[in-house]
Amino acid sequence: MHSSIGPLEEARLLYIEQSELSRRIADGGEPLVIYDVGLGLAANALGALECAKGAGRSLQVISFENDLDGIRYALTQTDAFPFLQNWKSAIEELLERGIWKSENLEWQVLEGDFLKLDLSKLPEPEMIFFDFYSPKVHPQLWGVDCFRKLFLKTEKRRAQKLRTDLYTYSSSRVARESLAQAGFQVGEGKPTSIKRNTTHAWTDGRSF
Ligand SMILES: C[S@@+](CC[C@H](N)C(=O)[O-])C[C@H]1O[C@@H](n2cnc3c(N)ncnc32)[C@H](O)[C@@H]1O
Repeated sequence: MHSSIGPLEEARLLYIEQSELSRRIADGGEPLVIYDVGLGLAANALGALECAKGAGRSLQVISFENDLDGIRYALTQTDAFPFLQNWKSAIEELLERGIWKSENLEWQVLEGDFLKLDLSKLPEPEMIFFDFYSPKVHPQLWGVDCFRKLFLKTEKRRAQKLRTDLYTYSSSRVARESLAQAGFQVGEGKPTSIKRNTTHAWTDGRSF
């Protein structure tokens, strides 16, 4: 599911550190909403939840996944996936009820094809961790329609001049062109030890 640096390291470098989540979550204010696009084995979501535990600001992670069997299976094999161990009961509750809450943390999962899911009732995201399989494997998930769906979900934030940041491991031309056509500004993301180029995209507006 992840590059050879491993899921936790990739989550830490690409999504948690690059987004400066710990700084952005330190003080109070409106809940910080993250769209975790492609829950997989939850490394990115758990990285964010771990980072925000006990912080001054609330964190709301909304994960999207069309096949929850992978994480269900991983939960039965936590020796092989040690990062799931401390979160086993939280994930079990998430999978059973669709939502898990504790203190300043809330985690929700929406099951289904992301392209078809109705996002209208969801709060707008301040950050998007975009982590589907590569554009070669799933071209439609890296197309303009998919990124446009996310861009349109930042309408109120844009009206308030608030920025939304999207991070992804891919630096492919097709991903970057689709992001730009969908309305995002597109730039270089933080490199990891095995991937020199990644992508950071954002909507116009003030950052937090
Ligand atoms: C690279 S993995 C995600 C890894 C994950 N972010 C993590 O931290 O472990 C991509 C995930 O996207 C899911 N997926 C593939 N197509 C999808 C779709 N159309 N809608 C929602 N999820 C999808 C796959 O089942 C897979 O779990």
